[in-house]
Amino acid sequence: MRTTVISVVMAMMYVMVAPAAVKPQKDFNVQKFTGKWYRVGLAYDSPGFVPLRTIMKISVGVISVLPNGNVNLTSWEAVPVGCLTQSYLYERTSIPGQFTYFSTRHNQEKDITVVETNYTEYALVVKHKEFNREYTQVALYGRSSRVRAEVIQKFKALALSQGFPRESILTPPPAENCPPGSGR
Ligand SMILES: *[C@@H]1O[C@H](CO)[C@@H](O)[C@H](O)[C@H]1NC(C)=O
Ligand SMILES: *[C@@H]1O[C@H](CO)[C@@H](O)[C@H](O)[C@H]1NC(C)=O
Repeated sequence: MRTTVISVVMAMMYVMVAPAAVKPQKDFNVQKFTGKWYRVGLAYDSPGFVPLRTIMKISVGVISVLPNGNVNLTSWEAVPVGCLTQSYLYERTSIPGQFTYFSTRHNQEKDITVVETNYTEYALVVKHKEFNREYTQVALYGRSSRVRAEVIQKFKALALSQGFPRESILTPPPAENCPPGSGR
């Protein structure tokens, strides 16, 4: 009887604690993380983003580290009116691989976690706000615009473990001429 009650309670807790907590890459090295990355995968299930799923393209980001350890990301994103350049400041925390970022669009602070990277090929990054699923994103970055199928599988598995429905897990096509002069 007691065992039954315990297992029912445990089953309920399991449902309630989803999605799985994310941990940063062990021994994260921000210097090795600098340079150019292609965002080759994105999982995002905000209702407002649904119409953009089919037009989204691979975006490009360049990461540099400021003297105080914060990170500057400059990104180029193909949008219907052209190529949008933006820069973002990710503030370091006491945990390597974990950053915070103030989103002016959503008017709230978010946590950015580099969950897994081997620096030369790919990075899995989760942008999240605890207890607020709406703004959570899982991104796959590649050092080139094409990554191996195994890496795509890792990305999909992570997004599914975070509770994303399959149709929200995207691997967009390359952008044309964004950044300008890059061809495709
Ligand atoms: C981030 O990099 C961009 C592009 O190089 C630059 O324009 C911007 O001033 C930088 N921001 C900070 C805070 O260093
Ligand atoms: C990262 O992955 C690439 C492709 O498999 C491999 O060539 C490279 O050695 C890996 N780097 C590290 C540091 O493991």
